[in-house]
Amino acid sequence: MRAAVAADFASWRRQARALLQAAVPPEDVEWQAPGESSLFDAEPLPDAKATARIPRELVSLLEASACHADPDRWALMYRLLWRVARGSHRTLLADAADADVARLTTMAKAVDREVHKMHAFVRFKTGAAGLYEAWFEPEHDILRRAAPFFRDRFASMRWIIATPRGAAHWNGEEIAYVDAPMARPAASQDAKEALWRTYYASIFNPARLNPKAMRQHMPQRYWKNLPEAQDIVRMSRPRDVLQAPVAAPRWAGRVRVDVPDPTQLQSCRRCPLWENATQAVPGEGPGAARVMLVGEQPGDEEDLKGRPFVGPAGKVLERALLEAGIARDSIYVTNAVKHFKWEPRGKRRLHKTPAQREIEACQLWLDRELAVVKPEVIVAMGATAAFALTGEKLSIAKLRAMQMRHASGARLIVTYHPSAILRGEERAGALFDALRDDLRRAGGIAAG
Ligand code: URA
Repeated sequence: MRAAVAADFASWRRQARALLQAAVPPEDVEWQAPGESSLFDAEPLPDAKATARIPRELVSLLEASACHADPDRWALMYRLLWRVARGSHRTLLADAADADVARLTTMAKAVDREVHKMHAFVRFKTGAAGLYEAWFEPEHDILRRAAPFFRDRFASMRWIIATPRGAAHWNGEEIAYVDAPMARPAASQDAKEALWRTYYASIFNPARLNPKAMRQHMPQRYWKNLPEAQDIVRMSRPRDVLQAPVAAPRWAGRVRVDVPDPTQLQSCRRCPLWENATQAVPGEGPGAARVMLVGEQPGDEEDLKGRPFVGPAGKVLERALLEAGIARDSIYVTNAVKHFKWEPRGKRRLHKTPAQREIEACQLWLDRELAVVKPEVIVAMGATAAFALTGEKLSIAKLRAMQMRHASGARLIVTYHPSAILRGEERAGALFDALRDDLRRAGGIAAG
C-alpha cells in the first residue's frame, strides 16, 4: 500500500502519472489531503511523463471533479484513470451506468453549477486604494476555475475575491492565488451596491423571468452577499422594478454636467434597449464645452462604469485627442444612443449596432445635451452618430468631405469611429490619421 497526497488537480495528476507508470493499482493507493497522516509510505515516486493516451473528455471530467469537496474524489479519479488507461476507454466513458463514471460526472456537474453561480453572484465593493473586494463562500474548491471569468470581465479593475479557503487577486496583469483561510471582510455600504442592483434588475427583470424562476436562479445561501437581494420581493411586482432606484453615475473629480437629467435618463423606456443594459450612460464634460464628440453607444465597459468611452475605443480616442492637442476634459463626450445594445456570445456581451428606431428614440437625449452645452463644433464619430446628427446614411468618406452645419448652428464634422480603427487592420493607420486630423480641425474651429 502507498500513500499519495493531492491538494489540487496538478498535484494529483503528477502523482497519478507516476503511480500509473509504476503500475500501482488503485486498491493499493491511499489518497490523502496535505497534512493528513498515514500508516503507509508516502515517499514520492519519480516524476513520470504522460505516457498513456487519455481522451480529452476524461481530462475535462477529472479537472472538474478535482474541485469537488468530496474527500474520496482523488481515489475515484485514479480508479477511473487506471481503468481507462488499461482498458477500452471509449466504451467506458460512454457508459453512464458505470458507477465511477456516474459519480465523477455528478461531481463535475456540481462543480460547474457552482462556478456558474459564482460568476453570477459575486459582488464587488470598493475597498482600500481603489481595490474592488468580493466575498464568496463556495462549497467546492472552485476559485481557480471561476477566477479567469472575472479577469476577462473586469480586466480594467483591480480586484480580490476572497473565500473561506483562499483568495484570487487580479493586479491588472495576472491573477495571484492565496491558499490560506481568509476572513469575511466587514460589510460596507457602497455606491457600487446601487450599480449592482441596477445590473441585477436589468438582468432578472420580471418581463423575462418570473419571481419563482428568480428564486431558483438565486439560492438563498448567497443572498447575504448580494445587495440586490432586498429587491427580490419587490421585483416580484413589475411596477416596482420600473421605479426601482438607480445608481447616480459617478464622475471622479472631473467636471460633468447633468445633461440629460440622469434620473430621467435612467428611467427612459423609449425603446427596449434599457432592458438588457446595466444603466443608461449620459455624456460627460464641461457644460460650456466648445466641442462635443458624439459616438455610437456605450460598450461593455462603459455600460458597467456608467461613463462614455472608457473601454478600448476610449483608449484610441484618448490617443487621437492627445495627438490633436485637445484635452479630454475640455470637451463634452457623449453617444447617440445611451444604452448598450448587445447579444450574448458564450460568456461575452457582443456589441450590436443600434437600429434606426433606437437611434431615433434616443434623439431626445442628444438634443437636450446639445441645447445645454451649445457646442460650436460637433464631431460625429461613425455611422450611427452621423445618422443621428444629419439624418443621412451616406458613407463616412462622403460625409467627411462635406462642409456641414447642424440645425443648432454648430459646425458639424463627420469622421471615423475609434472602433473602426480597432477593426481596421491594414487601414487602421489611415483611419487613425483621419480621426486625429478631424479632431484637430474641430479644435481649431472652436479656438476660433
Ligand atoms: N463606443 C462608443 O461609440 N461609445 C462609447 O462610449 C464606447 C464605445
